[in-house]
Amino acid sequence: MKLFATCAPGVEELLAEELRRLGATKVRTASRGVEASGGPMLLWRAHVESRLAERILVPIGTGPGGDPDTVYQTALHVDWKRYLPKGKTFAIDSSVGASRINNRVFLSQRIKDGIVDRLRKDRGERPNVNPKNPDVWIRARLYKDRLSLSWDASGRALHQRGYRREAGVAPLRETLASAVLLGAGFTGSEALLDPMCGAGTLVIEGAQIAQRIPPGLVAAKNGAFAFQKSARFDARGFADYLEELESMICPQAEHRLVGSDRDSGVVAIARRNAERAGVEGSIRWNNGDFSERLPFNAQTLVVVNPPFGQRLGEQERAKSVIKAFGDHLKSEFAGHRAAMILGSNALVGAVGLKPSRRLPVRFAKLDARIVVFELYAGSRKS
Ligand SMILES: C[S@@+](CC[C@H](N)C(=O)[O-])C[C@H]1O[C@@H](n2cnc3c(N)ncnc32)[C@H](O)[C@@H]1O
Repeated sequence: MKLFATCAPGVEELLAEELRRLGATKVRTASRGVEASGGPMLLWRAHVESRLAERILVPIGTGPGGDPDTVYQTALHVDWKRYLPKGKTFAIDSSVGASRINNRVFLSQRIKDGIVDRLRKDRGERPNVNPKNPDVWIRARLYKDRLSLSWDASGRALHQRGYRREAGVAPLRETLASAVLLGAGFTGSEALLDPMCGAGTLVIEGAQIAQRIPPGLVAAKNGAFAFQKSARFDARGFADYLEELESMICPQAEHRLVGSDRDSGVVAIARRNAERAGVEGSIRWNNGDFSERLPFNAQTLVVVNPPFGQRLGEQERAKSVIKAFGDHLKSEFAGHRAAMILGSNALVGAVGLKPSRRLPVRFAKLDARIVVFELYAGSRKS
């Protein structure tokens, strides 16, 4: 089968690597996602084990879409019985670009007409549309008058792992937190420290990697993915697969994982999030300034998502925090590694260290960067 895994802009290469590890073949990066092929297991593995994918789409077909009638004809030619089980509701989410039709709502309506007419002919009954909370989402993209239709096999955003019910200011999306960790090559075989941890997302994702807790396990067990409601879903095989994954979970991380923040309120939130994520036994939480000395002797990855200073007048303050943090890394963590997500090139410059890896990503409407530093002695720029 073929699938298209969507991701945050900039994460495509990392996601392609991850999907290859999950058994995908013919992996090809595209804008905001990755195309891949594989056996039926790939759909399961992409949902349950991918830390970077935002959603998994299964391509249904493409066709001309230059005018309202060709859109209707393209939709009418699809065998919708395969994707819309009897009695289930559906909705269409469209995006348009560089095409004669430039109204998403109008496009969705024409596609809906094609779906309804085809199903009425094939089944003798009209399927129901539920625009807010359908059983099945059909994703449509019209680009340069070419229409692509996909079945949303996820039905929900995969970054919603379920553990982060509370957050502090500017929490990092779970998938991007994992991109920081995987971009730095974190596998759980070293210690991890986030000294500005907020609601704890980076350390919690790191602990799940270290304990081999699949990010989509809870959602899968709750039957929350759309593919679990499809007509041809192999419930027995899927339950066996989940059981095998569960048997591989480690009760505790092997190395030290620490989250710290100067705001005691967010540390309490991080602790509760960790409990919900099943990693509370692996993480030590601390309330203090990043400059506080924490005993780290073993090989350590320091990860951080510092304040970006998005509001007017806050940029200089953010720069000085990052500059002080760069100095701290240099004096306390020589021989270790660091990975950060920063809101601009100016902030990368403020660290005062030369990155060994730089990944431009879109985050919080900013052209952000994931940067990785090898903190060997003499890595200071000036
Ligand atoms: C952008 S938030 C981190 C969000 C976090 N990654 C999450 O997902 O929730 C930045 C955090 O840095 C903390 N912070 C700012 N300056 C600090 C300092 N000097 N020492 C320790 N923490 C600091 C703030 O309290 C805030 O929680």
